[in-house]
Amino acid sequence: MKSALRNLTLLLSLLPLVQVHGRRVRNTESNGISVLGDFNHESSFPRFPETIANVTVTVGRDALLACVVDNLRGFKVAWVRVDTQTILSIHHNVITQNPRISLSYNDHRSWYLHIKNVQEADRGWYMCQVNTDPMRSRQGYLQVVVPPSIVDRETSSDMVVLESTNVSLTCKATGYPEPYVMWRREDGENYRYNGENVNVVDGEVLFITKVSRLHMANYLCIASNGVPPSISKRVQLRVQFPPMLTIPNQLEGAYIGQDVALECHTEAFPTSINYWTTERGDMIISGSFDNTIAEPRRKNSDKYEAVSMDSGYKKYMMLKIRNVGPGDFGSYKCVAKNSLGETDGVIKLEEIPAPTTVRTTTHFPTMPPKKKGRGRVGGDRLGRGGGVGGGSDLNRVSSSDKTSDDDSNPEYDYDGEFTLPSNRPPAIQDLPGAFSGSAQLPVPCRFLLIALLVLVCLR
Ligand SMILES: *[C@@H]1O[C@H](CO)[C@@H](O)[C@H](O)[C@H]1NC(C)=O
Ligand SMILES: *[C@@H]1O[C@H](CO)[C@@H](O)[C@H](O)[C@H]1NC(C)=O
Repeated sequence: MKSALRNLTLLLSLLPLVQVHGRRVRNTESNGISVLGDFNHESSFPRFPETIANVTVTVGRDALLACVVDNLRGFKVAWVRVDTQTILSIHHNVITQNPRISLSYNDHRSWYLHIKNVQEADRGWYMCQVNTDPMRSRQGYLQVVVPPSIVDRETSSDMVVLESTNVSLTCKATGYPEPYVMWRREDGENYRYNGENVNVVDGEVLFITKVSRLHMANYLCIASNGVPPSISKRVQLRVQFPPMLTIPNQLEGAYIGQDVALECHTEAFPTSINYWTTERGDMIISGSFDNTIAEPRRKNSDKYEAVSMDSGYKKYMMLKIRNVGPGDFGSYKCVAKNSLGETDGVIKLEEIPAPTTVRTTTHFPTMPPKKKGRGRVGGDRLGRGGGVGGGSDLNRVSSSDKTSDDDSNPEYDYDGEFTLPSNRPPAIQDLPGAFSGSAQLPVPCRFLLIALLVLVCLR
């Protein structure tokens, strides 16, 4: 009450000073004239030796505006908020009710306006005036900057979309100055956007036409405006598609007793359930790896080992068959299923002759008769296989695409149509014809053997 009264008295005593409206405008317009008019007495009047420095402050911090007046003598200094025409302080007194504002002074010359916990509303022009007639003043600008922040309500959250649809990710940010917004992948990889490979897309909206599985990633919306800290929001984009399957080798060859591995690559999202089946459609299970399938069949657990390795939406499947026996030849299927579909691919396991490193007579009677005379062909086949094998690219197999080896032409593996097994015994290549039938034996040997057989039979 007391202080209010005192303020009022002060206000009245400084009437010319507080008539901010008309006077200030007139003063600035006629400044030059008034200076000329007062020229004779200039040295005896208050003057501003320097301008009021602009101040930039981050919201929430404190600001300090300084006004220096020389030769103030009996005149008084007031701080005025220009745009609201509010008197903040007069002489040694704070007038405004704003508790965040305080005043300090020095030697009757420096007058400081303190603004604590600066708000955006404080942004604007502040005037320091002296109650001369006409009034003299200087102005300084208080810039209030606001670090960027992301408006969650107007910003996309994690998304799950179907492949080939259009996707729009939006990011809304506020701050002062207005933030710059951009989109990039969290992993820093480039991505396809409007037919280009880009690293960063400027703007609030990331509009991906015909989204592909390659777009599946975490995206960061980053907002910055030069006021630290910059801010980002992570948006996860997941792209759903039915399983797709790739088989590096649709034909594998193995000889009796060998270990062989069949391979399949699949892509699917949501993650597919993958498994192997036999020709008859029986599921092949090795308890050791694929724990998505229960009840491993005990009798198979040593024979088969199914390995599955995931990398994002990609899966690598391998079926190891140990100690291949005559019953193991035939077709195997790798299958991938998810909520959007199912696909499978067939791999044929074919018998190939066992490699022979030492030529002994004990090997020759055990050769299967059907292999008779094919030694040379076999060598040729392997030779060609070496050439083809290098370029054995992945064959895409879609669910409708069955492997075309149903016609089971016994010669199909010799006509170079198929990629040859990658795990064929290398020894064979070095010994073409080494495992051949009797036709490959040196002629004298053959006669000797026949003679021996005849002798035995005759007994
Ligand atoms: C102070 O800030 C205002 C507004 O941003 C600007 O127009 C003026 O030029 C600045 N003055 C100085 C001395 O920097
Ligand atoms: C996806 O966006 C493209 C380009 O704007 C447009 O031509 C197409 O019709 C859109 N497709 C769908 C399904 O909205």
